[in-house]
Amino acid sequence: MGRRQTPAIDRNPLPNHPHFTHDNNLLRRRKFPIPNSQFPIPNSQFPIPNSQFPIPNSQFPLYIEPFIGAGALFFDLQPANAIICDKNELLVTTYTVIRDEIDELIRLLRQHSQYHNATYYYQIRAIDQSANYAQIPAVIKAARLIYLNKTCYNGLYRVNRSGHFNVPVGNYRDPLICDEPTLRAIHHYLNQCQITILHADYHEVLTNVPPKSLVYFDPPYHSPAKQNFTSYHADGFDEADQIALAATYRTLSQQGVYCLLSNADTPLMHELYADYTITIVSANRAINSQHTGRGRVNEVLVRNW
Ligand SMILES: C[S@@+](CC[C@H](N)C(=O)[O-])C[C@H]1O[C@@H](n2cnc3c(N)ncnc32)[C@H](O)[C@@H]1O
Repeated sequence: MGRRQTPAIDRNPLPNHPHFTHDNNLLRRRKFPIPNSQFPIPNSQFPIPNSQFPIPNSQFPLYIEPFIGAGALFFDLQPANAIICDKNELLVTTYTVIRDEIDELIRLLRQHSQYHNATYYYQIRAIDQSANYAQIPAVIKAARLIYLNKTCYNGLYRVNRSGHFNVPVGNYRDPLICDEPTLRAIHHYLNQCQITILHADYHEVLTNVPPKSLVYFDPPYHSPAKQNFTSYHADGFDEADQIALAATYRTLSQQGVYCLLSNADTPLMHELYADYTITIVSANRAINSQHTGRGRVNEVLVRNW
């Protein structure tokens, strides 16, 4: 199959549904003061300028983000009823610690802040190599992840084949290691709304999705030349995974679920999502394993409405 010439033909399976409004004021209605890009995991500048196209209003029964990462759209929309999921266990642990153990987390982050220097960084980084790592309390692991993310090179998240974090220390004059107002805002949001946090593979949270729910997919990006940073998890996400994900997207679309997906602007994406509306956006990707790949890159946003 060749590259589709006109990607933005809308074969909308859910035309003109009232759950989609042309309301571009969503971001102004956020209840909890959570700035973008604050969650401790590699994050992009979220590439949906709010005026690009209408985003569903907050009436959808359920919001699901199965590759939550730093949850940029999740924190923007702040849905009242959501399932968030990720395969990265440490990341999911960190979300649950922010929800359940905020005071101890903040105490530990203040401690990291006080002791931070390059030697200390490498000591903390090495904790995941200790024999008893599995037994270490969740709150210590979460504080370590946030500390490393705020102080490592380029805010990168990368593990080696053994699953050990291997990013060198960054060079920041005064890194904000304990952003207490943001962490407390996230804590209140996770507690006051119906948010289910799951450590799972994405497909496990996509059975029995109520029609008219909104699912936002932001998977590891397709990278034919292996140039872009896609190793968020030691398992990776290869082309076969991208093809399987497109099949899931299609199934959900046929079930009347609103689907939105971000990915790299590659020929395979145009081929897999040819039946949906594709918008090409230019996003600022700060996280990349190679210098050449940093900066503005084109991405696709695929929607089924
Ligand atoms: C591109 S990042 C998501 C970025 C996120 N939207 C944000 O704003 O930061 C991809 C995420 O997918 C997760 N992931 C990779 N493979 C997965 C899988 N099979 N199931 C669920 N999550 C997976 C990674 O751990 C990573 O957190």
